[in-house]
Amino acid sequence: MRKINVGLLGCGTVGTGVAKILIENKDVIRSRVGADLNLKYVADIEMQRDRGIRFDDGVFINDAYKVVDDPDIDIIIEMIGGEGVAKDLILRAIDNGKQVVTANKALLAVHGNAIFKAAMEQGVDLAFEASVGGCMPIIKSLRESLVGNHIKSMAGILNGTCNYILSRSTDDGSSFEAVLAEAQKKGFTEADPTLDIEGVDTAHKLAILTSLAYGMEINFKDIYIEGIANIAPMDIDFAGQFGYKIKLLAISKDVGNAVDARVHPTMIPFDNPLSSVGGVLNAITISGDAIGNMMLYGYGAGMMPTASAVVGDIVDLARNLLTGSSGRVPLLSYQMNNISKIPVIPVDEITTHYYFRFSALDRPGVLSKISGILGDYEISIKSVHQKGRKTKGFVPIVMLTHLAKEAGVKKALSKIFNLDVVSDKPVLIRIEDENQED
Ligand code: HSE
Repeated sequence: MRKINVGLLGCGTVGTGVAKILIENKDVIRSRVGADLNLKYVADIEMQRDRGIRFDDGVFINDAYKVVDDPDIDIIIEMIGGEGVAKDLILRAIDNGKQVVTANKALLAVHGNAIFKAAMEQGVDLAFEASVGGCMPIIKSLRESLVGNHIKSMAGILNGTCNYILSRSTDDGSSFEAVLAEAQKKGFTEADPTLDIEGVDTAHKLAILTSLAYGMEINFKDIYIEGIANIAPMDIDFAGQFGYKIKLLAISKDVGNAVDARVHPTMIPFDNPLSSVGGVLNAITISGDAIGNMMLYGYGAGMMPTASAVVGDIVDLARNLLTGSSGRVPLLSYQMNNISKIPVIPVDEITTHYYFRFSALDRPGVLSKISGILGDYEISIKSVHQKGRKTKGFVPIVMLTHLAKEAGVKKALSKIFNLDVVSDKPVLIRIEDENQED
């Protein structure tokens, strides 16, 4: 039986899951691949922690460079994460002609163009299914299953931590801090959880998917990002009263010679299937000219679901090695010479529906002042709701709009904030509602 030697760099949450699957499911993998996937080395600087796995003597080491420089290793699995040493190790592995698997979305989003170029020049495969959406096969879908389509748009819940927090706040009113602590304990969060909460992790993933969908260089820096830290329980409650849920959405649309790519809390109607995706689950809807709409759904974070995607990649690369077919699937879905620099439009240029919440004095004439300013910027109000009545002090005034331009919305809200009858900064939440045409 042929043996493929695998070296694992980083044995944290997902790395441990990968080792478990390779060891515990060895037989079923062998029967599918026709070769043994031999975990020759596992490298991690934290050597004492009990991971619940018995490695053979000499397998667990603390020197990752020994693994990437070992001529017997066929496939390197990078599970360290981040943009530091992981980048160096991946480039060295590529240089040494190794096949590489990584789940490192931060690294690929920021340095992916150079890394993929290096891999292509060296003629090695670099697989990254687990970088987006945990166990959902979204990369394989875009790179292989859907290649007959022009992709028109994608909308996804791509961060398990944020979805967990928003779902728990919606369902049982749990506090943000308590649910975040739980998510950390369960191993869903990034090492630095602000990357989750501020939407950066979602944007890393969106940058990768947007490149695969439209044949463009990875462009993380131009993606508009807004996280979930400012979502108030009151807004979740109002959203529910209007038939909406609030989700942190990654949105990507082909708009001709540019793409609209952004991450922000979004109100979506209850009949949008993404609205029922709760907890740590991820989901993505993809719209293509041949498929219409399709949706993928599955655990987006956590040890074993993410490890499952990594092992799927290892098997793909092992099969390529066994059949001498490395490079069969272009790394970024398009042939290298067909990948261009398609611009991402600034968020100020988008047109969408909005939810506004103003904190205003409950006095005659206040509403007309606010609506007058909105009118000056051609923002047409669909409905107005004043919640509660206070003789002294401020009340929430909630408005839903027809389609409006973001640039005008920003200017109008800033003017409204300056009114002496308005206290706090107005709240703006974008709405994606296909049921509402104008
Ligand atoms: N921190 C990420 C999440 C892990 O919560 O989705 C998976 O990428």
